[in-house]
Parts: sequence; structure tokens; C-alpha cells
Amino acid sequence: MVRAPGPLLLPLLLPLLHVSATTPDPCEIDDDDFRCVCNFTDPQPNWSSAFQCMSAVEVEIRGGGRSLQQFIKIVDTEPKQYVDLIKTLRWRRLTVGAAQVPVRLLFAVLRALGYSRLEELTLEDLEVTGTTPPPPLETTGPALVTLSLRNLSWAIEGTWLAELQQWLKPGLKVLNIAQAHSLAFSCAELHAFPALTTLDLSDNPGLGDSGLTAALCPHKFPALQELVLRNAGIETTNGVCVALAAAGVQPHRLDLSHNSLRATAPDAPGCVWPSALSSLNLSFAGLEQVPKGLPASLSVLDLSCNRLKRAPRPDELPKVSSLTLDGNPFLDSGAPNHQENPNNSGLVPACARSILAVGMTGTLALLQGAGNFA
Ligand SMILES: *[C@@H]1O[C@H](CO)[C@@H](O)[C@H](O)[C@H]1NC(C)=O
Ligand SMILES: *[C@@H]1O[C@H](CO)[C@@H](O)[C@H](O)[C@H]1NC(C)=O
Ligand SMILES: *[C@@H]1O[C@H](CO)[C@@H](O)[C@H](O)[C@H]1NC(C)=O
Ligand SMILES: *[C@@H]1O[C@H](CO)[C@@H](O)[C@H](O)[C@H]1NC(C)=O
Ligand SMILES: *[C@@H]1O[C@H](CO)[C@@H](O)[C@H](O)[C@H]1NC(C)=O
Repeated sequence: MVRAPGPLLLPLLLPLLHVSATTPDPCEIDDDDFRCVCNFTDPQPNWSSAFQCMSAVEVEIRGGGRSLQQFIKIVDTEPKQYVDLIKTLRWRRLTVGAAQVPVRLLFAVLRALGYSRLEELTLEDLEVTGTTPPPPLETTGPALVTLSLRNLSWAIEGTWLAELQQWLKPGLKVLNIAQAHSLAFSCAELHAFPALTTLDLSDNPGLGDSGLTAALCPHKFPALQELVLRNAGIETTNGVCVALAAAGVQPHRLDLSHNSLRATAPDAPGCVWPSALSSLNLSFAGLEQVPKGLPASLSVLDLSCNRLKRAPRPDELPKVSSLTLDGNPFLDSGAPNHQENPNNSGLVPACARSILAVGMTGTLALLQGAGNFA
């Protein structure tokens, strides 16, 4: 017969009981009450643990890949029941990831966050299910500065950005969309982003020149200053120029690094670059020669980590004041074993490592999003 331990023994046993009886708390908040991270990986997660994040400024919540359907009653909750609570939140940055979420719930949460002071929202690894609710009757949702979306799949394919946009106040400045399953937007439904200065479509290796034309809905990005297309399957500089002209987009800075660029075909349509374009990043682009027809207005040009056999001539780049050429073989012709090694790609070692890293993430994204860019 097992006898219950006497009261004196209990304090000794408690630490042991504690370890075996409870799973680790899914949420952790740092000592300054600044950053709170929840990772609900347990099969029966204790969702109420998230309440400790109420006092944090940066909050990150991952749902362990499970469905958030059980929270659907938020959709029918009257805002007056939560407004006062939401207004007290200090949240500035929120990340929500790894979950299956009904679109009606997602938009209801955005409506609720309209009463918060949230500035930056990141959504990643979400499967957004179901059809959309009717659009809001008035401007609602958070006044975000930055919205980042990575690896989101939407049941509402071509219209997701237009639908999402209606649940944000119109001051958005930075929009990042990576590993998108579809960037072919139905432009008729999309409203302009009047304040958007940075559009980053990096890490969409299936995009390509024609996908870019489909993604850049004409006249929807009137304030754009920076377009980032790193590792976006871009094929030619001319293809980008044509897409920008068709969309009426006038960026000052354009990043085409980490794309395998080839020379523009002689019969390709000619193109006029945006007159304001002053900075172009063509590093890690596999270039064997300086592309023809680069904008004459460029003051910053990064050609590092290519396979250039000579430096650009001054007449090719009349206004350039910052030119980066590191990691091109013409700077390195005296290096040993350059000719003998059959595996040598013509790349300088400092650049090769970075190519490999991007190549790997690109392949993962490609496998994961295969066939989604029709
Ligand atoms: C969440 O937990 C899972 C399983 O333990 C782990 O694989 C994942 O990296 C965690 N995510 C974060 C952001 O900590
Ligand atoms: C769930 O988390 C809350 C807040 O951290 C805690 O008070 C409660 O005891 C937890 N419940 C269980 C069953 O672990
Ligand atoms: C993308 O998100 C899905 C969940 O919707 C997840 O299963 C998958 O692992 C994610 N892919 C990557 C590359 O993270
Ligand atoms: C160009 O892009 C590369 C790789 O994405 C980056 O390391 C580099 O800093 C960029 N150059 C400029 C001038 O911004
Ligand atoms: C070339 O690559 C192959 C396969 O990766 C390797 O076995 C071989 O040793 C390499 N040759 C040289 C000279 O580095």
C-alpha cells in the first residue's frame, strides 16, 4: 500500500510533480514586458496563456498549424464589447503564423485591431479558408505602416489583396509579399495604395517578367519609391522596364539582385525607364556583360558578384557616382586555379556562398509553390 507522503515531504516533491504534471507554458514574455512569443504546438494548447501578451509591445503568435475555427464567434461579437480593452493594448508589432484561419475570422480580427495602435503586421504560413464576408461599411482596420505576408494560401485566389485591403486604413507605406501562391491580381477590384512607398515581392521565384506585369496593377502604386524584386525569377532588365511602363510605376530604387538575368533579345520591345530611377541593384544576377539600355539617370549601380569580364565604360553610365563591381572575375584574373577547376562557375568565392544559400531557399519555395503561377 502506498502511503501519502507526510506534509513535511511535500515541498521536496513539488518540483518533481511540477515538471511531470504540466507542459511548458506556450507563451513567454521577456522581463521588460516588451516582447511576447507564443508557440501553440501542444495538441491541447492552453490558449489562455496568451493573455500574458496583453502588456507587450511586440507579439508573435504561432498556431502549430492547427485550425482557428473555434474562435469564429469573434466574428459576431459587437465591437463595443472589446473596444475599451483593445484601446489599452500597447501592441505595435504583431506576427501571426502557422495556422488555418477562416477569412471571416481574419477580417474580424483586423476590424478589432482597428481600435489598437498596431503599426506592423506580419502574417506567415497561413492557410486562409472560406469565402469573404461583405465588405466593411466604413474605413476600418488598423492604420498599418508595414504589412508583411509570407507563404499565405487563400481560397479567394485572385481577389485576396483587394479584399484584405478593405480591412486596412489607407496609409500603408510598406508592403512585403513573399512566397505568394498567387500574385495574379484582378486589378479591377484593387484600389490604389495612395501612400505605399515600398513594394517588396522578393522570394517569389515563380514570378518572372510576365508575372510581374500581372502583379503590378496599373496606377495602383502612385507613390512608389522602391521596388524590390530579389529572387523573383526575373529574366531580363528590359522585361522589368516594360512592366514598370505598363503599370505607370515610377520607382527611384529598383532591386533585381539574385535573379538569373539574361541579355535582352534584340527584337524585344524597346522601353523607357522611369525618369526618377536613380538606384539599380544587379548583384548576384549571373551577368556576363553589362545589360544594354540601362537607364542613363542612374547614380547608384550594384553589379557585384556577377561574371563580368570588363568594367562598364563611362559612356554606358554617364551619371553613376556609386558603382559596385566586387566579386567579378575581371577583377580577379590572377587568382590561382581559376582555369583548372572545372567546377568553377566564374564566381569569386566570397560570392559563391551567398548564391548557394539563395538557391536553396528558392528551391524550397519553388517546390512548395509549384504550379501556382498559372
Ligand atoms: C514552435 O515549436 C515548434 C515545435 O516545437 C518548432 O518546430 C518551431 O520552430 C517553433 N517556432 C518558433 C517560432 O519558435
Ligand atoms: C493556462 O494558462 C494560464 C495563464 O498562463 C494559467 O493560469 C492556467 O493555469 C493554464 N491552464 C492549464 C490547464 O495549464
Ligand atoms: C507554408 O505554409 C503551410 C501552411 O499553410 C505550411 O504547411 C508549409 O510548411 C509552409 N511552407 C514553408 C516553405 O514554410
Ligand atoms: C544589392 O543587393 C545585395 C544582395 O541582395 C545586397 O547585399 C547589397 O547590399 C545591395 N546593394 C545596394 C547598393 O543596396
Ligand atoms: C567537382 O565537383 C565534383 C562533384 O561535386 C567533385 O567530386 C569534384 O571533386 C570537384 N572537382 C574539383 C576539382 O573541385
